[in-house]
Amino acid sequence: MLTYAIVNQKGGVGKTTSTINLGAALAEMGKRVLLLDMDPQGSLTAAVGRAATGLTMGDVLLAPESILHAIYPCTGNMHVVTATARLANVFLQLDEIGEPAYQLQKAVHLIGTNFDYCLIDCPPSLSHATTNAMTAADVALVPLQCEFLSLRGLADVQEITASIQETTNRNLRLRVVATMYDKRTLHAQDVLREARRALPGLVYETVIPRTVRLAEAPAVGQTILQYAPDSNGAYAYRALAQEVLQEDQAYAASRRHTGSHAGAAFARPAA
Ligand SMILES: Nc1ncnc2c1ncn2[C@@H]1O[C@H](COP(=O)(O)OP(=O)(O)OP(=O)(O)O)[C@@H](O)[C@H]1O
Ligand SMILES: [Mg+2]
Repeated sequence: MLTYAIVNQKGGVGKTTSTINLGAALAEMGKRVLLLDMDPQGSLTAAVGRAATGLTMGDVLLAPESILHAIYPCTGNMHVVTATARLANVFLQLDEIGEPAYQLQKAVHLIGTNFDYCLIDCPPSLSHATTNAMTAADVALVPLQCEFLSLRGLADVQEITASIQETTNRNLRLRVVATMYDKRTLHAQDVLREARRALPGLVYETVIPRTVRLAEAPAVGQTILQYAPDSNGAYAYRALAQEVLQEDQAYAASRRHTGSHAGAAFARPAA
């Protein structure tokens, strides 16, 4: 199983939308996909049409083995561990546990053979949620809203990634996906060009367009692939899933070849 933490401390950049729709596109390609809601706002939980009943993410963080009983089927042929507002209290409780950053990693290790992809939707903060997710993950996937101010936030994400690589997860890879891209504006093109220049090899070729369809789908508990399967948004998330799969295969092959865990150094193969 490969684990992607969808992170950005900036709010409203498309983390939850990308978690659900990248997951749905991977599921459409036959992959077994698990979504984890690490946000006390519970937006992912609501968007995939599940009420948070039974065991939730808060239980999993306090007792990692409870993940075995916290997974439920959800929309888009995927599975989910849901979140409630109680998760915010659990983050406070984690301060009392030795090495709190590893709780999610322990849980994820327990379910590795049941799924091909685990996608973790993080809140817009740098809290236990983010450190747990980035410690458990193979890839920190950062949605970058194509606006000037977003570029400033990228430096923070790079810094956190470097600190996680030095402390709890040296194999973490950083990747960026441009979201809410409006190709009619020069400004969005400038931001994308600057992101590619600043982070060579780390920004996916696929760009997620700004489209109201992506905002409408969760209101009816659907993924974009169900709600508007022939829309630009659906094709974009399918293209992203394709890129993710290809890169993960290339990465696995490079590890077999070198026998090493050179995660941090591995950049996307040229398109
Ligand atoms: N590509 C897009 N085009 C148009 N609207 C979008 C797009 N992606 C997301 N949205 C909308 O923008 C808003 C923010 O998106 P989303 O909830 O995915 O961001 P987020 O980063 O998870 O936010 P938060 O930080 O609050 O968790 C939502 O209303 C969503 O439907
Ligand atoms: Mg969100």
